[in-house]
Amino acid sequence: MDKRDQLIQKLRNIAVKTPENDVEVPEKVEGFGTIEYGAQTCSACKKCILACEPAALDMDPTMNLPDYLKATIPHDGFRSKNRESLVTLLQGLREEGNVVAISVPDGLPGYGSIAWAADRCIACDKCIEACLEDCLTLEKTYKLPEIIGEVKPPPSITVSKDWEPFILCFVCWECSHAAADLAGLMHLHYPTNIRTIRIPCLGAVEPMHIMTALENGVDGVLLTGCLLSECHYGGDSPKAGNFMQYDFVKFWMDVLEEIGMGGRIHIDSASAAMGIKFADIVKEFTEKIQNLGPSPIRGKLEVR
Ligand code: FES
Repeated sequence: MDKRDQLIQKLRNIAVKTPENDVEVPEKVEGFGTIEYGAQTCSACKKCILACEPAALDMDPTMNLPDYLKATIPHDGFRSKNRESLVTLLQGLREEGNVVAISVPDGLPGYGSIAWAADRCIACDKCIEACLEDCLTLEKTYKLPEIIGEVKPPPSITVSKDWEPFILCFVCWECSHAAADLAGLMHLHYPTNIRTIRIPCLGAVEPMHIMTALENGVDGVLLTGCLLSECHYGGDSPKAGNFMQYDFVKFWMDVLEEIGMGGRIHIDSASAAMGIKFADIVKEFTEKIQNLGPSPIRGKLEVR
């Protein structure tokens, strides 16, 4: 079973109510998202192909040489540098009269064309993160009824008086973990029913981690990282771990909403000096989960 099948299986396992009939199913989508790429900026470096674990991307490396020899590429920070230096190299080769042996296919605007398989993509963002030229975009969508398949009615849950939420909290070890430590040193009172998992950066959390936690009956999943623009892996770049994770969590929140698990993920940030903020984040999320009640999956496990 590949990664995509496993993820779909997990979603099926946590699907606890019939999806509403008004779930939007965009026509061209066959998976979790659609990938588009800009042929004019791609430098055929294959970084996206290597980063794609479910092997949803492939590249046909071709080029339209006349266009490159004419091209003037604007300076745009390091992102267009690879492509620009390739163009300069090709222009230099032309000047030395060495290009005659290169065959030039018609009508291709880039160094290569990227093929994308909708039925393998899991919208994990890894290709976008890997692309130095910013030529890929991922629109996250999903075809929920198809993904969920057979749906199950919500289980009936009796909330016992002493039920306490069980929350899994991913903290990045650069900032939020220090904030949690500081909250402890300051003797701040915050709910202790969170289990903390320290990770290098929020960007390291994958859909599979969150889905596995929920499938196993965790009542809520909290992710806290560095302040926006201060991720140690990307800073203020839109490809920084925390930026990408915000985008990703928003997408999965919508998916979970559809299957009766809405409100059970939250993402936030706290710098190493923000012990008070960290304690508040945990308090607020715990209260929210308390109001939502136990995870329907947990209820099911307990009933069993
Ligand atoms: Fe903290 Fe990236 S290093 S979120």
